Amino acid sequence: MKILIFGAGYVGLSNAVQLAIKNEVVLVDIDKKKIEELKKKISPIKDSLLQEYLDKEKLYISFESDLDIQKKGYDLIIIALPTNFSSKNNSFDTTQIEDLLQKLSTEKFNGLIVIKSTVGIGFTEKMSRRYERLSIGFVPEFLREGSALADCLNPSRIICGGETSKLKPFAEEVLSCCKNSKTELLFTSTMEAEAIKLLSNSYLALRVAFFNEVDTLAMTKNLDSKKVINGIGLDPRIGSHYNNPSFGYGGYCLPKDTKQLNTDFNNPENELMKAVIKSNNKRIKFIAECISNMGIKKLGVYKISMKKDSDNWRDSSILEVLKILKKKDIDICIYDPLIKKNNFLGFKALNNFDELKKTSELIIANRIDKKISKVKNKVFSRDIFNEN
Ligand SMILES: NC(=O)c1ccc[n+]([C@@H]2O[C@H](COP(=O)([O-])OP(=O)(O)OC[C@H]3O[C@@H](n4cnc5c(N)ncnc54)[C@H](O)[C@@H]3O)[C@@H](O)[C@H]2O)c1
Repeated sequence: MKILIFGAGYVGLSNAVQLAIKNEVVLVDIDKKKIEELKKKISPIKDSLLQEYLDKEKLYISFESDLDIQKKGYDLIIIALPTNFSSKNNSFDTTQIEDLLQKLSTEKFNGLIVIKSTVGIGFTEKMSRRYERLSIGFVPEFLREGSALADCLNPSRIICGGETSKLKPFAEEVLSCCKNSKTELLFTSTMEAEAIKLLSNSYLALRVAFFNEVDTLAMTKNLDSKKVINGIGLDPRIGSHYNNPSFGYGGYCLPKDTKQLNTDFNNPENELMKAVIKSNNKRIKFIAECISNMGIKKLGVYKISMKKDSDNWRDSSILEVLKILKKKDIDICIYDPLIKKNNFLGFKALNNFDELKKTSELIIANRIDKKISKVKNKVFSRDIFNEN
């Protein structure tokens, strides 16, 4: 297949590399710096496998920053553009996808278009009605940042939303580039696929919020949180996975996807999603209060990303905690190798870990790694199981 992919982020880049093992792929991004790096085979994102594939695999891939690239001759266009949540409209901002579809319609593109960006329920159908000539499907992405390519190569399921006969060749091509022989293939309507994506992420958010509330209860009643969570998880219906407390769920997807699902319900009967969002905000406030009540004057922050092995700090919960602590009389310093300046969002940024240790009375860390575990007696974290 000749495939054109728009958006070289976590989703676009990992899908491009996966498909380029057997297909001819062109990856397009508006960010010229990113494209220049990719042309030199440097992965712009931190990922367990991406750099290795760029270095060692024979990939049929090229990179382009010209958005007006000729689209004729391609069998497939994949859209992996951002869909940030707009608080003003209380829904995803899909302008960039809409602009691209408008262009494809004017240019009379007649191949298959697959949207991989997360969109609200009904978006693909609305676009198909607006641009009747275009063949548009929705195939959600379930990868995790930090292991994006590995997740693409080993998906638990591929959900194909749209006309089965058009999507089947695409699904079979993706499957043939996978390493997981147990991958389930499910054909649905576009709205069902959109709902599956938002509901899956909302379930994950709900589970995080639940175990964070368990941890809040344990902290306020002086219980051993680890024992309580272990005791709950020993019920096989619940299980001992995805139960590690944190400062709150965060990252690019869970906060925005829960909000979008809440908007899409648009029904007073829906209580759960509202409660999950509220619970997460309360957890962040609770963590900030715990820290503030310690009476610390010099506070260190160890890393701003959500996960140990990720370089993504979009909407990370530690930053939400800091927004609250900023209003208190506390001197705050951040250490994170990701920060290249000496000031970050109004906080002093240090590039020397020893300096952070020396100057901080307490260091907060959403996740504990090898480096920070060496000064454990100075650390405040709720990472009980040492996992993401
Ligand atoms: N990050 C995840 O873990 C994840 C998982 C599943 C689904 N998603 C969804 O996939 C979509 C993309 O997420 P992401 O994390 O890859 O985003 P990202 O921000 O990492 O990447 C998006 C890329 O699109 C580029 N871009 C922006 N406007 C453009 C345009 N007009 N033309 C070409 N390129 C343009 C940006 O420069 C950026 O490189 C979002 O809808 C997100 O919700 C993300």
